[in-house]
Amino acid sequence: MTELFKAIVTDDQDGVVKGRLTTLSLSDLPDEEVLVDVAYSTINYKDGLAVSEHSPIRIARKLPMVSGIDLAGTVMESSAAEWKPGTRVLVNGYGLSETYWGGYSQRARLKPEWLVRVPEKLSLEQSMAIGTAGYTAMLCVLAVEDHGVKPKDGPILVTGASGGVGSVAVSLLAELGYEVVASTGNIENNSAFIKGLGAASLIARDEMARESQPLESERWAGVIDCVGGSTLATALSQARYGSIVTMTGLTGGVDLHTTVMPFILRNITLQGVDSVQASQAIRQRAWQRLAEFVNLVKLGKIYTVAPLEEVPALCDQILAGAINGRVVIDMTN
Ligand SMILES: NC(=O)c1ccc[n+]([C@@H]2O[C@H](COP(=O)([O-])OP(=O)(O)OC[C@H]3O[C@@H](n4cnc5c(N)ncnc54)[C@H](OP(=O)(O)O)[C@@H]3O)[C@@H](O)[C@H]2O)c1
Repeated sequence: MTELFKAIVTDDQDGVVKGRLTTLSLSDLPDEEVLVDVAYSTINYKDGLAVSEHSPIRIARKLPMVSGIDLAGTVMESSAAEWKPGTRVLVNGYGLSETYWGGYSQRARLKPEWLVRVPEKLSLEQSMAIGTAGYTAMLCVLAVEDHGVKPKDGPILVTGASGGVGSVAVSLLAELGYEVVASTGNIENNSAFIKGLGAASLIARDEMARESQPLESERWAGVIDCVGGSTLATALSQARYGSIVTMTGLTGGVDLHTTVMPFILRNITLQGVDSVQASQAIRQRAWQRLAEFVNLVKLGKIYTVAPLEEVPALCDQILAGAINGRVVIDMTN
């Protein structure tokens, strides 16, 4: 008998593109070399953009599309010598949910070169509690470290600090000994959560999301920006001489109105961080550091677990800014 399983498929439903729970069989899956029994996936901002009918942009380049930009599970069958059945694997990005069927599916056929071995120290659930958001946060932290910024150099600003990337970034930086200043849209509600992750202090989003001067007082030894727009422009104008500003998100807008002044007078570096097409070497470095440095007790406080059926509603919520931390999707029921 053909095995049936559940998936969230995004399709055009009477002129509205959105995701819904569907039943698929193995013969529906694309023809790739490694079949994975998917145990967990997660909700990321990009998943909201892909699945929610309220999304301002379309992520799927073709329809129908199984959504979900990440997954963790166990290899069931493989014609690729390096991936034996029983191996615990995860995938982030690589066009999942854009051009390739993604992680919101209890079974997935994947290209062998996309897979990363789940570090021994992490359970499959924990690896997805970190997920694409946490792996991206680690890429930003590595950029700060590689720039030579040390904890003694001064505070690191994290914007969008209550979100997935932001919350893991706060936690990782604090674990590494940095003084973290967290910018958030709702200090009253988010203060206990973000301080619990290790932030030294919080500033209101409005202090950053405003028109800024080309150069303002130097504050930040480094910045991890998840927001973009005027927030990023203000962060650039406040970055200290020789510092690095990493830029990875767009929840506050895609425009960036700035001047050359911070770059030519303060020698700062603005570094874009992309997780989707990062090389295997970069991914493995990031996941090893994550396994080494993620505080599993703090991680446990960052995430909640929800069933696959709730994905469409959760995707609406993440676009509305109504999710704190991470949501892991349990694919096993
Ligand atoms: N480049 C890459 O490879 C890559 C990878 C992962 C994620 N990303 C991007 O990084 C961003 C964060 O992703 P995520 O999964 O962490 O999303 P998320 O969980 O929704 O977090 C985003 C946070 O941004 C803040 N925010 C929301 N609306 C805002 C607004 N209008 N103005 C300013 N701040 C706002 C909120 O934090 P506060 O309430 O605390 O302010 C929110 O929690 C997204 O844009 C995502 O697409 C990029």
